[in-house]
Amino acid sequence: MADTEPNPARETALDQLLAPPTGTWVIDHDATSLSFSLHSFGMRTRGRFGSMNITIAGPEGALQTRAVRRAYGRGMAKAVRNAHLDPETDYLRIYRELGEYEFPWDLTQSLSFALFRTYAVPSIGRLLDETHEFAERTQQRYDDTALLLEEVTVHGFDSPSGREALRRINGMHRMYDIAADDMRYVLATFVVVPKRWIDRYGWRALTDRELTASVRYYQALGRHMGITDIPETYEAFAALMDGYEAERFAFDAGGRRVADATLALLTTFYPRPLAPAVRLFSRALMDPPLLAAFGYREPGPLARRLSEGALRARARLVRRLPPRRRPMLVRDMARIKSYPDGFDVRAMGTFAPGCPVHQRASA
Ligand code: HEM
Repeated sequence: MADTEPNPARETALDQLLAPPTGTWVIDHDATSLSFSLHSFGMRTRGRFGSMNITIAGPEGALQTRAVRRAYGRGMAKAVRNAHLDPETDYLRIYRELGEYEFPWDLTQSLSFALFRTYAVPSIGRLLDETHEFAERTQQRYDDTALLLEEVTVHGFDSPSGREALRRINGMHRMYDIAADDMRYVLATFVVVPKRWIDRYGWRALTDRELTASVRYYQALGRHMGITDIPETYEAFAALMDGYEAERFAFDAGGRRVADATLALLTTFYPRPLAPAVRLFSRALMDPPLLAAFGYREPGPLARRLSEGALRARARLVRRLPPRRRPMLVRDMARIKSYPDGFDVRAMGTFAPGCPVHQRASA
């Protein structure tokens, strides 16, 4: 066959080899990751250029049709999934679903910031420094904190594993002489910091029902931890937190070490070259009293505007994504790294040296 005659088999092979890359862009439902899955790769020599599908997908990776995308793109409201629930009786479910479906990333992020604030109270930061746990096992402390707290939220206060997690948390605190005021203050940060974060950076504000559920949830957690004089309303939690910080925030070398270790850990959640940006971004989200208490430099108005702008842009994007249909649990997040083969609540946290429970649980 002469070279000039058409050869369909050769042309199809060439076409495939030289076709442009095709694949699917997938935005994670929380708009915290964007991935491209490649279907074919090459450069097409003739005919129509192939197209890349840019597709918004739900957490299952299910492709959304253009019609669905258009509907969400126009800001079609997502239904509030807990609108039929009573926060006085169903607070556990409402709060759990806030974490699993509505605001998984925002809650994880804001609770991390809530704990971070508490290191600026010297009596708290100093103790956490003295146990050396944060300096030596930062990732594990992060993981155990998140997983033990999630165990209670996911399974409930009265479930066997929820009770086991509470036993562990209370056992750890009993090893130290912790002031009741400090316990109450930490509890208040868990209620107030996420509410303020979601109001500023969430894809929507919390509803009154959700806020009440969060208050009731942490009141119950506080009672299970033996905390007394727990505030009765959100406003009372906020007044307690703000007043305590105004009075107690101060520099302490130990608190600063714990803050440094935590910030260093945060940078490991993102690609390494981004570390300086993550540090700057994190500082840009701290208010001046918090920065001053740690002796951190003010990041400046530009960094603040960029960081807050990025979070608000993310919120606008999430608002347009379809509702999450499968729960997102902290234990499934890539940032939790200590237990690739699963965890046993009884063996988590810290133990007094030689504690027999630890030996039994880890046996
Ligand atoms: C509502 C209040 C509080 C909650 C919900 C809470 C929660 C937790 C959780 C989940 C853990 C286990 C995490 C791990 O293994 O690292 C933990 C450990 C610990 N907590 Fe708390 N905590 C509270 C208040 C406080 C306060 C006020 C202090 C200190 C003044 C404190 C000091 C510690 C210490 C020393 C540990 C052991 C781990 C270590 O040495 O870093 N906690 N807490």
